[in-house]
Amino acid sequence: MLATGVPAGFVQDRQVLSLADLFSALWADYAALTPQAHQIHALLEARGETVWNDHIALRTFDLTPVGMGALAAPFVAGGYAVAGHYRFAGKKLDAVHLEHPDRRWPKVFISALRVAELPVAIQDQLRALVAQVPVTTVAGWGFPVSGRPWQVSFATYEQLRAVSEYAAWVAAFGFRANHFTVDVGRLHTFDGLLQLDRFLLDQGFRLNDRGGLIKGSPALYLEQSSTLADLVPVEFSDRVAQIRSCYYEFARRYRMPSGELFQGFIADSADKIFESTDLRAGTAIG
Ligand code: NI
Repeated sequence: MLATGVPAGFVQDRQVLSLADLFSALWADYAALTPQAHQIHALLEARGETVWNDHIALRTFDLTPVGMGALAAPFVAGGYAVAGHYRFAGKKLDAVHLEHPDRRWPKVFISALRVAELPVAIQDQLRALVAQVPVTTVAGWGFPVSGRPWQVSFATYEQLRAVSEYAAWVAAFGFRANHFTVDVGRLHTFDGLLQLDRFLLDQGFRLNDRGGLIKGSPALYLEQSSTLADLVPVEFSDRVAQIRSCYYEFARRYRMPSGELFQGFIADSADKIFESTDLRAGTAIG
């Protein structure tokens, strides 16, 4: 439970109970697909750390009925509200982040691919996937952790990946946490993000170095790093293939002149972090 940023005993009413259940389900699903997250979490706890989650991230297409609003709905029902809007022109993505008034709950970052901006043949493939989604899946409380609700071939995955790595990831994995994020500001055995990164490299983990190991800066009030996504076997309709699943992220937030910790996201940093699921990412570093 601590891995989700939800303190033990923080289950006081039905609304909170359902949020706790949702985050528990998201973590269990994510950890099963992301062995390194489990390993890193255990390494940090072995140092005496309590791991708090800064945010989770979810991905989708801007197609009815699976758009950002559908993924946000269970969180909004639990008290979350949209607190920031982002646009990634190169990757053809829109995104929002949601916050809960009780800061013990992690932020939720939801992005969606602007399908109409892709080649028509790719649009048709994505619409054919979404046409397979049962309405009851989308309307349910567990939609953000429902997994892949369609059949897709490895050939289609490869065609999508040639145009949009993001589209291919959603096609292969569906609706689930793309990453969880350690709140580095709450760790007490590391001086900062660079020291944590060095620790992880020393332990043999591979980090995303697109745009540098650390994205952002104290001047932007946010620094972020991430592992490279794990390689896992995924069952497609025609074969099983090893592809990159999910990654673990690390975020250190800084105080703004107002004294408040910055709670938003930096579009340029997030743009590079998205590439942590890209098979081509990840030259040797450290
Ligand atoms: Ni993130």
